[in-house]
Amino acid sequence: MISKGEEMRALEEEDVAEGKTERFEDEVARHQVMVGIDLGTCRTVVMSDKGDKLLIRSVVGYPKDIISRQMVGEGPLFGAEALEKRNFLDLCFPLAEGVVREASERDYRAARELVRHVVDLVRNGTDVEVCGIIGVPARASVMNKELLLKVAREMMTKTLVVSEPFMVAYALTRLNKCIVIDIGAGTVDICCMKGSVPAPEDQVTTFKGGDYIDERLEAAIARRYPGVQVTKSVACAIKEEHAFVGEPEQPVEVTLRAEGKPARFDVTREIRTVCESIVPDILEQVETLITSFDPEDQEDALKNIILAGGGSRIRGLDRMIADRLQEYGEVQVTCVDNPEYVGAIGALKLAKEVPPAHWAQIGLMFGG
Ligand SMILES: Nc1ncnc2c1ncn2[C@@H]1O[C@H](COP(=O)(O)OP(=O)(O)OP(=O)(O)O)[C@@H](O)[C@H]1O
Ligand SMILES: [Mg+2]
Repeated sequence: MISKGEEMRALEEEDVAEGKTERFEDEVARHQVMVGIDLGTCRTVVMSDKGDKLLIRSVVGYPKDIISRQMVGEGPLFGAEALEKRNFLDLCFPLAEGVVREASERDYRAARELVRHVVDLVRNGTDVEVCGIIGVPARASVMNKELLLKVAREMMTKTLVVSEPFMVAYALTRLNKCIVIDIGAGTVDICCMKGSVPAPEDQVTTFKGGDYIDERLEAAIARRYPGVQVTKSVACAIKEEHAFVGEPEQPVEVTLRAEGKPARFDVTREIRTVCESIVPDILEQVETLITSFDPEDQEDALKNIILAGGGSRIRGLDRMIADRLQEYGEVQVTCVDNPEYVGAIGALKLAKEVPPAHWAQIGLMFGG
């Protein structure tokens, strides 16, 4: 198949011959949209060089039966709309631990439809070519990265799959002597930046992220208040409003239902314990990664620790990580301003600043 670019180059030659002079690059820019995509377990974020800024929950819903089809149409539905109409739908969260699960055909199909949906939103009814960079968890297996690349190449002319924390570092232009800790729903990705694209040994992924906290909080509340009805999504909502580590600023009381009736319950201790439960793994990984820097760079790297991802909103987490690393000297931990968007911002920045001809040096790519 002739790509739009080749077609345009041929047309340009004709135009030049006829004395028309629009530059090839300008012509390409009009027919191409560059995107940065952060494909997360919890939500998918897309930014484009034409100003699109999309955030949707990473969920796809298929009508359950003929009756549901009458109510919601053939589907599939995506994101918030799928969650809202969940009673009519079979929901699929295709990105387990931030990557497409290898075994299930259903997840693969849903991931493909999700990517198609966001690319269609960016296309907005036009026939522009969409190119861009997709972030995946730092240590996603090569198999999973290839699967994601396969999903993306069906919808995009050129694509590149790179590690998520690298995109965060790129967005902040903190590419040297820095450690990024991205606390997502499915994974915590920790990555050392040493001036260029991080090598596999500079990155670790652990699975104690937001979903892990939700499960533990649900169990902890059920244990303390046996008659109370609590689900994982209730636990998640409580966490998103009240998550903290360290000494509580004030007690946390929430309304829950016990035998159908609402009542107030104190969950301060439970929230603190489950939020603090992700800290030891993070510290262990940082302590291991720090020794991989040259000794003369370690001091700077410790003053340059960045927290990103939705989990970075846990109050007091930055302070606790810095305190627990005290014996290493001065440690500074900062939270990014916009944890939901920063990965996609970095991916778009990378896509715009590095010409596609060089993408293959950065990660797994298709096109060129
Ligand atoms: N205020 C908050 N306090 C604590 N956790 C929060 C808060 N807001 C959001 N989260 C949690 O952050 C997680 C989502 O973060 P993020 O959007 O970075 O994940 P993701 O990129 O979809 O996941 P992953 O990177 O693992 O694929 C969810 O578990 C969510 O509940
Ligand atoms: Mg993420």
